[in-house]
Order: sequence, then structure tokens, then C-alpha cells
Amino acid sequence: MIRRETVMIKNSLDIAADTVEMTLHNSYLSKNAIPGQFLHILVEGHTLRRPISIADVNNEEETITIIFKKLGSGTKCLSAYEIGMTLDVLGPNGNGFLLESKDSTLLLVGGGVGVPPLHYLGKKASEKGVEVVSILGFQNKESVFYEEKFKQFGKTIVVTNDGSYGERGYVTDFVQTIGPFDSYYSCGPAPMLHALTKKLEGHRGYISLEERMTCGIGACFACVIPTSDQLSYRKICADGPVFSAKEVVL
Ligand code: FES
Repeated sequence: MIRRETVMIKNSLDIAADTVEMTLHNSYLSKNAIPGQFLHILVEGHTLRRPISIADVNNEEETITIIFKKLGSGTKCLSAYEIGMTLDVLGPNGNGFLLESKDSTLLLVGGGVGVPPLHYLGKKASEKGVEVVSILGFQNKESVFYEEKFKQFGKTIVVTNDGSYGERGYVTDFVQTIGPFDSYYSCGPAPMLHALTKKLEGHRGYISLEERMTCGIGACFACVIPTSDQLSYRKICADGPVFSAKEVVL
């Protein structure tokens, strides 16, 4: 159930170019958040809350980790909050990634700020003994984060568009270089998801479209996408952000 909670900032760290990792303390959210869900954060001076995906949860320490890019005024302002300050948060929001109980190997494919929700998913899958293979895409070397954390779950390929780190190219160039898998889970920019779902047609897959949310509360209609049968539509913020790859048209 979504609740309005006060969270305390336990840590805030620049982990890559314009990329902040923030650890928040809150008992309720840490107990209830599942991979793929997001927090809706009120930032001082901004009327609309910022939807930010959950990158990790530590149940013992009752913390939730979020990762965001300092792109707009809201996230720039959020990045200036200091350790010990509190935030007004709604959460956990949205439907998350559900692991198929029969799956023994998963493929995770993340692009940029689409990487964080896959981290929490990879951790949960790994804890269940599922083999996890990850392909992570970034613009360049300066943007890369969490490579070592994903490596703890299994084989990890890092791809940069300009080739300044890891492999050169796009994540979709590498999906056919890995072995068989049962399901894939992906989050990233719409063109990446479009190309990926085409390439992996016939596989069971789940995609998170969280990058396309704006208001996050069903008010702006910026996140509307058609269903595969073209007869209806879904709001990413209210019906997602996670969908079956076959459910919607990208
Ligand atoms: Fe505004 Fe979904 S993000 S309606």
C-alpha cells in the first residue's frame, strides 16, 4: 500500500557523471518496496513530486537506495539535500518486476538511469539462486556505475556508445552473444526498449518504462502508450511502470 512517509537522508554520493546515489532511512518503505517500484519525492520549491526508481533495499538497516541524474531543476535541487535532512515521500509506487518461479536464468538489460531498478531485481533473483546475466549500457566511461555490483550477480557486459569503456556500441548489439535464458527484464530509453523487444521477439520479457514518466500521478497524460491490440491505452505511471513486453506498443 502506498503511504506518505518521512525519510531521512543517510548518505548522498556522486557515483558517475551527473549521477547521484542517495540512501534513505525508512522502516515502512524498506519493508514493502519490491524491484521496479518507485518513490514519489517532494522537492522543496517544486509542486510536482519527482518519480525516482528504487535501486536497492537493505532490510536490516531499513534503508532504500535511489539513483538519479541531475538533469532538471527538481533533481538538481534534490541532489543539494544534505545527509540528515528529511524528505516527504509517497511510496512504494507502481507495479514492480515479478520473478517467474520456474526461471533459472535471467537476462537483465539496462540503459543509463534504467540500470538502477534492475540492480534491486538482480539482487533478489541472485538471492533466490537464479543465474543472472546483465548487459548495461551507458553513453561513455564517465557515466558508468554499479558494474561491480552487477558482477556479484553473474556475467556482466558493460557497453558504452563511444567505446570509451567496455564494449563499443549499444546493448542490443550484445544480446545474441550470451547463452540461453528464460526471461529478460529491461529498463532504459524508449528507442533502446523498442530495438530490444524487436530483437528478442519470441522471448518472455518485461520492460519498465519509468523514464517516460513526468507527473507520476496520472494527471499530465505525458506517459500514455497504446496497448498491443491498439484498442486501448495504458498510463505508465498508474498502470506500470512495468509491463509485459507483449502488452504495449513502444
Ligand atoms: Fe503524468 Fe503519467 S506521468 S499522467
